[in-house]
Amino acid sequence: MSFSHLLTDEHRMIEQAARDFAQKEIVPIATEFDESGEFPLENIKKMGKMGFMGIEVPEEYGGSGMDTMAYVLALKEIAKADASHSTVMSVNNSLYCYGILKFGTEEQKQKFVTPVASGEKIGAYSLTEPMSGSDAATMRSRAVLDGDEYVLNGLKSWVTSGPVADIVLVFMMTDAEKGARGVSAFFVEAGTKGFSRGKKEPKLGIRASATSELIFEDCRIPAANRLGKEGDGFKIAMTTLDAGRIGIAAQSIGIAEAAFEASVEFANIREAFGKKIVEFQGTGFKLADMKTRIEAARGLTYDAAMAKEEFKKTGRRFTLEASMAKLFASETAMFCAHHAVQIHGGMGYSKEYPVERYFRDAKVTEIYEGTNEIQRMVITRLAAGLK
Ligand code: CAA
Repeated sequence: MSFSHLLTDEHRMIEQAARDFAQKEIVPIATEFDESGEFPLENIKKMGKMGFMGIEVPEEYGGSGMDTMAYVLALKEIAKADASHSTVMSVNNSLYCYGILKFGTEEQKQKFVTPVASGEKIGAYSLTEPMSGSDAATMRSRAVLDGDEYVLNGLKSWVTSGPVADIVLVFMMTDAEKGARGVSAFFVEAGTKGFSRGKKEPKLGIRASATSELIFEDCRIPAANRLGKEGDGFKIAMTTLDAGRIGIAAQSIGIAEAAFEASVEFANIREAFGKKIVEFQGTGFKLADMKTRIEAARGLTYDAAMAKEEFKKTGRRFTLEASMAKLFASETAMFCAHHAVQIHGGMGYSKEYPVERYFRDAKVTEIYEGTNEIQRMVITRLAAGLK
């Protein structure tokens, strides 16, 4: 594809390294872990050693010191093998490490980024609550300063890596009357008294990634565990989600490519009415639309990755680019997975072929890190001058 001129030798190397790792270590276990719902801890640790868990994190904080394009390419290859692995990788890299690097103190970066970027520990991001998803500023959980400690109370839900995370970046109200401006961000470490894991979600897709509720009951943490100033939490959450949405776009391209490649292979083998089904327009046109949308999604995602790099120099937010990439790429993943199942016919409905997993995994990309309705709202506001 013509976008390849945007890639450096370093980009190609990390893409290849991720592809090799994914084919060797992830593909052989993906179906089994999807079925059992077991968390692939061993592989996640290996991904840490490969430098995949903190790709954009500077080496001094345990990361690989690479750019957003490198992150997109590696994440796409992991997702192509298994979306669950890529979900854990995405949250670790962008929802967790990115925000701390941007808003944290030197001490916080050393303490909370280094072990997570190196893959020694797993990070999670906890914004959503049972009654507060898209309307994130309406959260009910509360953090109250008491001397040199905060006391945390509340129930968080849909936390990716919730059951296994060593450190959680959690958002709570410190001043409910101020709405979005009354939210603050905190680090909570596993083992802290008053912090426990709640119900594990039985999910349709990305079943090997662990998702749960988190419970905070008079959970006391040092005041030094607050990220940014009191009231900065919502901006931190939103800034971080801008980065996260580029990850979801990359993940979506990986799922879409996997669905497309499986379909091409199947359509060239399967015969009906005396010829290969790829020779029927009913199949060929589906493949044409899948391929076209994948390349369009890649263009938007690369553009968002470049906008994020620009942001480092100019400070211009990349919210619009990230939302457009996430919106289009996730709908491309769903479109491709849907067509892949149809092209496979009955085989597409069987667990003996991977496309039914792609179909189930693709759906979440249209929901998490901001539903596509929220992405359209963000895009309208920014592109049509609504706000
Ligand atoms: N970057 C920086 N600041 C931002 C921002 C961004 N992208 N978006 C908003 N802000 C700032 C605004 O400038 C505003 O600041 P001021 O008060 O200083 O003016 C403040 O945040 C409030 O902004 P809005 O008035 O726009 O807020 P809103 O209440 O209208 O909500 C929203 C905006 C876009 C709908 C937001 O609530 C949103 O993105 N919702 C979706 C939440 C989401 O993605 N949840 C997924 C959680 S993670 C997950 O899926 C689980 C997982 O583990 C993967």
